[in-house]
Amino acid sequence: MAPLSLLLCFLGSLSLCSAYASAAATLHLDGELPNGHFEESPSSSNLKKTVIVGKHSLPKWEIDGIVEYITGGPQPGGFYFPVPRGFHAVRLGNEASISQNVNVNPGSVYSLTFGTTRTCAQDEVLRVSVPGQSAEISIQTLYSSDGGDTYAWAFKATSKLVRVTFHNPGIQEDPACGPLLDAIAIKEIILPQKYIRGNLVKNGGFENGPHVFKNFSTGVLLPPKSLDQISPLPGWIIESLKPVKYIDRKHFSVPVGFAAIELVAGRESAIAQIIRTIPNKFYNLTFTIGDAKNGCHGSMMVEAFAAKETQKVPYVSQGKGGFRTTSFKFQAVSPRTRITFYSAYYHTKFHDFGHMCGPVLDNVIVFPSL
Ligand SMILES: *[C@@H]1O[C@H](CO)[C@@H](O)[C@H](O)[C@H]1NC(C)=O
Ligand SMILES: *[C@@H]1O[C@H](CO)[C@@H](O)[C@H](O)[C@H]1NC(C)=O
Repeated sequence: MAPLSLLLCFLGSLSLCSAYASAAATLHLDGELPNGHFEESPSSSNLKKTVIVGKHSLPKWEIDGIVEYITGGPQPGGFYFPVPRGFHAVRLGNEASISQNVNVNPGSVYSLTFGTTRTCAQDEVLRVSVPGQSAEISIQTLYSSDGGDTYAWAFKATSKLVRVTFHNPGIQEDPACGPLLDAIAIKEIILPQKYIRGNLVKNGGFENGPHVFKNFSTGVLLPPKSLDQISPLPGWIIESLKPVKYIDRKHFSVPVGFAAIELVAGRESAIAQIIRTIPNKFYNLTFTIGDAKNGCHGSMMVEAFAAKETQKVPYVSQGKGGFRTTSFKFQAVSPRTRITFYSAYYHTKFHDFGHMCGPVLDNVIVFPSL
C-alpha cells in the first residue's frame, strides 16, 4: 500500500495525497479472519462423522492432525459444547492444529482475538503462534460459564505474510478432549507515539486494545506478560498468573470512553505500567473504578501502588454500572515509577457462580503535582 500511495502523492495534489494517505490508514486490519467463525463448512464428503478429512478441507484454513468440525449443543458421549458465536466451531485433537496465512504490514504489531474453551475438566492449553513468536495459553480456568471465553495475543510482523497457527500441544488420555475454537479475529495495534498532554500514563483510558467481537462478547482476556512479550494492550503489562479482562462499551458499562479493564482474577492478576518520573517530585495519580453492569455484586476493593504509596479503594457494587473516581499523591524515588492495580477480592456473578468478575478500572492519569 505504501508505494502506491506514495506514487499518488507524487502525481496528485497535496490534498489528494492526504486523502489517499487516510484511505490507506482505513485498510488497517480489524476484523475476523476469512472463515474465522468457521461457519463455512467442509463439504460433507470431507467429513468422517465430525473429523475433517484432508489438509485443505476446512475452507480458508489448513489443518493438521485430528480436527473436528463441531456444531454447538449436545454431543455424542454426553458432552455439551457451547458455541456462542454462530453455530460452528472446530476442536483440536492431540497435537492437532489449524493455520492460515495473513497479509500484514511488516513491522506492525497485531493482536489476535480468539474465542476458545476447554472441552474436558483437564488442564488444556492452546498454543498460538506465528513463525518465531508463540504463547501457550492455559484455558483450564473458565471465566464465563457459557463457553464465551475469549483471549488476545499480540505479535510483531516481520514479513508481509505471516502464518497464524492454533495448536493443541496436549496429549490427553481422552482423545475427545482438546480446545474448541469458535471465532478468530485480527487487529493491527497502533502504538501510541506520544503521551497525551497532561498524562504520563500511555493508553490510560484503555481505548487502544485488541479486537472485540461485535455481536457477542464476554470481554477479552489478556493473559499475563510472561506468556507474551508484546502486549495486546499498548503501554500496559499484565503481571502475575491470571488474565485481566478487556471490556467494551457495547457489551458492558464502561466509566469513560470505549473500553476499560475488569479485574477478574483477584490478587492473582495485576495490571501495571512503568512511567517516567523525576526523583523526589510529587505526582497525582487519579483513576476511576466501578462495575461493568454485569451482575457482579458485592464489596470490592481495588489496591493501587505507586512508588512507596499504596491506596485501597473500596467500591460497593450493585452490579448496575456505577463508578467513582479517586486520587492520591506519591513521591517518585527513581526515574521510573511502576504503577500497579489489582483487585483485593475474588468475585463471581450473583446468579452465576461459574462466571468470574470483578471491579472495573478506567481512566488512569498521572501528572506532576505541586
Ligand atoms: C451480527 O449479527 C447480525 C444479525 O444476527 C448478522 O447479520 C451479522 O452478520 C453478524 N455480524 C458478525 C460480525 O458476526
Ligand atoms: C489530583 O488531581 C485531581 C484533578 O485535578 C484533583 O481533583 C485531586 O484532588 C488531586 N488529588 C490529590 C490527592 O491531590
